[in-house]
Amino acid sequence: MAQASVFDQILNPANRANPYPLYADLRRTPVSRADDGSYVISTYAEIVRLLHDPRVSSDRRNLADCGLAVENEGAPGLPPSFIGVDPPEHDRVRRLLTRHFGPPHDPDRIVRMLPDLVEIVRNLIDNFAGRNEVDLVDDLAYPFPVTVICRLLGVPREDEPRFRVWADAVVEAVDPTTGDVAIRQRRRDQANAELGRYLGELADARRDHPGDDMLSELVTDDGPEGRLSREALMANAALLLIAGHETTVNLITNGMLTLLRHPHVRQRLRRQPEMAVRVVEELLRYEPPVQFLPNRCALDQIDVAGTTIPRGAPIILVLAAGSRDPEHVSDADRFDPDREYLEHLGFGGGIHYCFGAPLARPETQIALTELVQRLENPRLVTDPPPYRPNPLLRGPRHLPVRFDSIVPSAALGDRRVFPAGRNEM
Ligand code: HEM
Repeated sequence: MAQASVFDQILNPANRANPYPLYADLRRTPVSRADDGSYVISTYAEIVRLLHDPRVSSDRRNLADCGLAVENEGAPGLPPSFIGVDPPEHDRVRRLLTRHFGPPHDPDRIVRMLPDLVEIVRNLIDNFAGRNEVDLVDDLAYPFPVTVICRLLGVPREDEPRFRVWADAVVEAVDPTTGDVAIRQRRRDQANAELGRYLGELADARRDHPGDDMLSELVTDDGPEGRLSREALMANAALLLIAGHETTVNLITNGMLTLLRHPHVRQRLRRQPEMAVRVVEELLRYEPPVQFLPNRCALDQIDVAGTTIPRGAPIILVLAAGSRDPEHVSDADRFDPDREYLEHLGFGGGIHYCFGAPLARPETQIALTELVQRLENPRLVTDPPPYRPNPLLRGPRHLPVRFDSIVPSAALGDRRVFPAGRNEM
């Protein structure tokens, strides 16, 4: 039997707990051809080049020409969201949404949310009281980001549980462990349809009675680019939920796992919460939730690192391999938040650079700082923990953690872990 290509070995769930030695193998050939004809790019410089190359398309309508199966990611009948289109359409929609997400038009959106973020995490940790073991995925990392997106969009509190059900169904659809494929996809399509319908109705209600949330601002915006159509609004609001959910779950979980494996860093973070900025940045490099970007297509012949990628070929950018490229960063397999140079590919790059990064960063900084401060003597129950089989959005399915007791939140006082700098990118 032929030996599986290195990339195929990376896809194998048996290698999920530690794919990094395989990424090192992969980097020996910066541009390699996978068994299915995709071109796999694994070195930092080459990935950055292609992330910025307009001949590399993300447009879902081109993917079929590249021989890639295109699944309808959003609600049936809605236009593709902006992650799946190229300029100029991509840029127009992204600019429209950005006006209500951060500088220069709404510089305080995230800052206004920070006290809420702290409160949500504190309440989740308060629920640990009386226990000596929790699952950090189910008990904290999973419920936190979905609640945050609800607050961002202005979903009324009583409807938040419905969002969790939809988020679960969408996430389950990409997780091969959770039962029959056809059933999962049916549940996902149904969830997407309900989510789209719900967001459409919420947008209509906000048009008549606007609040301080992002959806209200989007439906009443008469800025230079005009308004988003109702359908585009539904598709792109759903994207925020989907793109911002499991990624953040995994960063928080991978983060706590890494801190439990590096007790010195955990103890320093406990004493110096301002270190959270560097810890989260290094985590995005060292244990990134998005391991690679599939769904790219060469619109033209592209020469890179001595290889010619033919027009019409699918391209896979292996961000996790690039961020540990020793040509880019020294001692790349060491978790070191003190390193001078903290550039990474954790949020991608180029025009599709993560839209939600200014929110994901403080979310994770707050979650990790609160956890290390409040759990007395935390320790892992199993190492490695069980992983979801998903090779792309990689993270533990469960993270059981034992501890002696919980420090009451009142003992911590006001939390200020939101330094400037990276959060403003
Ligand atoms: C730790 C958490 C997160 C990680 C690691 C992450 C990672 C990424 C990556 C790698 C991309 C690039 C995709 C591509 O080039 O095809 C991306 C794009 C995107 N992310 Fe995130 N993300 C996170 C959190 C969030 C959050 C919280 C939101 C929403 C509030 C969000 C919304 C988006 C959107 C809308 C895009 C598409 C941007 C575009 O196409 O221009 N992400 N993210």
